[in-house]
Amino acid sequence: KTLKIAVIAGDGIGLEVMPWGIRCLQAAAKIYNLSLEFSEFDFASCEYYKKHGKMLPDDWKEQLSGFDALYFGAVGLPDVVPDHVSLWGSLLQFRREFDQYINLRPCRLMPGVRCPLANRKPGDIDFWIVRENTEGEYSSVGGKMFPGTDREIVIQETVMTRTGVDRVLKYAFELAQSRPKKHLTSATKSNGIAITMPYWDERVAEMSQSYKDVSVDKFHIDILTAHFVQRPNHFDVVVGSNLFGDILSDLGPACTGTIGIAPSGNINPTGKFPSLFEPVHGSAPDIMGKGIANPVGMIWAGQMMLEHFGYKEASAAMLKSIENVLSKGGDAVITGDMGGRGNTKTFGEAVEQDILAG
Ligand code: NAI
Ligand code: MG
Repeated sequence: KTLKIAVIAGDGIGLEVMPWGIRCLQAAAKIYNLSLEFSEFDFASCEYYKKHGKMLPDDWKEQLSGFDALYFGAVGLPDVVPDHVSLWGSLLQFRREFDQYINLRPCRLMPGVRCPLANRKPGDIDFWIVRENTEGEYSSVGGKMFPGTDREIVIQETVMTRTGVDRVLKYAFELAQSRPKKHLTSATKSNGIAITMPYWDERVAEMSQSYKDVSVDKFHIDILTAHFVQRPNHFDVVVGSNLFGDILSDLGPACTGTIGIAPSGNINPTGKFPSLFEPVHGSAPDIMGKGIANPVGMIWAGQMMLEHFGYKEASAAMLKSIENVLSKGGDAVITGDMGGRGNTKTFGEAVEQDILAG
């Protein structure tokens, strides 16, 4: 089977790291005999906006629907197009229209990366964060009354549907089941948020009946953030609502070094729509055009894409190669943000060569 990938590099350093993401994927495809087909698109960028007055063509959905995955760089150039226009007009449309209801991020301490937590070494921290990506606290139900008076009231409701909660939990349980530790942690706050969070807990308990081999625990979000910092080795798969997942999925990668190297997946597990894989970082206008951006987030996002589609060997090899270069690449190869003298090309090429070496 051919994996059809729509490449959307976007803006800024997205354009600079994308070629290396593709080259590393092509290297893995060559060694492991995968059939990957890349098609490049210039929309979802501020350049496109300058020409057309919008971020996406009207038929973007038709253009992208037939792909298995979107491989996305970064979007946004605040000096050219305001962020709410560029991000809302592109990335957020993809997530919403393609019903990418899972946001998935690895939290993994890589070799050669300085860990901000004391006494942690690679292997100690290796877990996944699964965030509900479509409902929950980020709803548009609510409103403002009596604006500008001292009776002003603002209300925003949390929306949890059985379908919405169950589908993210199902994904998280299955992910936990696929891992050696088979351990799932649920983020809650049912001691303070007395309607929606007890419901979330109830659905976790109900679903755990169908996954008896998965051990489950839950923590209130406040103490859970403390555990991320104090005993990150406890975790295997962590699932949370939209808001809690948002917080955890920034905190987790920050505990393992830098958000600059982290990848993320916005996934529609049904395969009905394409899933999107991207680095967590943005377009970094402050360093764009210099060729010094760290390509790890982009390459790792490609690795996640292969893993998602079940290419186990190739994805494991890609991850190993990223780790090899991070730990042994040396000063001349490692990019400046990680303390080296290398650049996008030296690092990207080293990973590509490591993959090709098999
Ligand atoms: P940013 O992630 O682009 O940059 C934050 C800081 O980290 C900057 O100092 C940058 O130089 C550095 N950095 C980021 N990635 C790096 C890399 N790969 N190698 C070396 N250094 C790196 O976030 P910022 O500055 O808040 O946003 C810039 C633009 O990107 C805005 O328009 C924002 O809306 C957009 N953005 C887009 C995202 C996306 O496409 N998913 C995500 C985050 C921001
Ligand atoms: Mg966030």
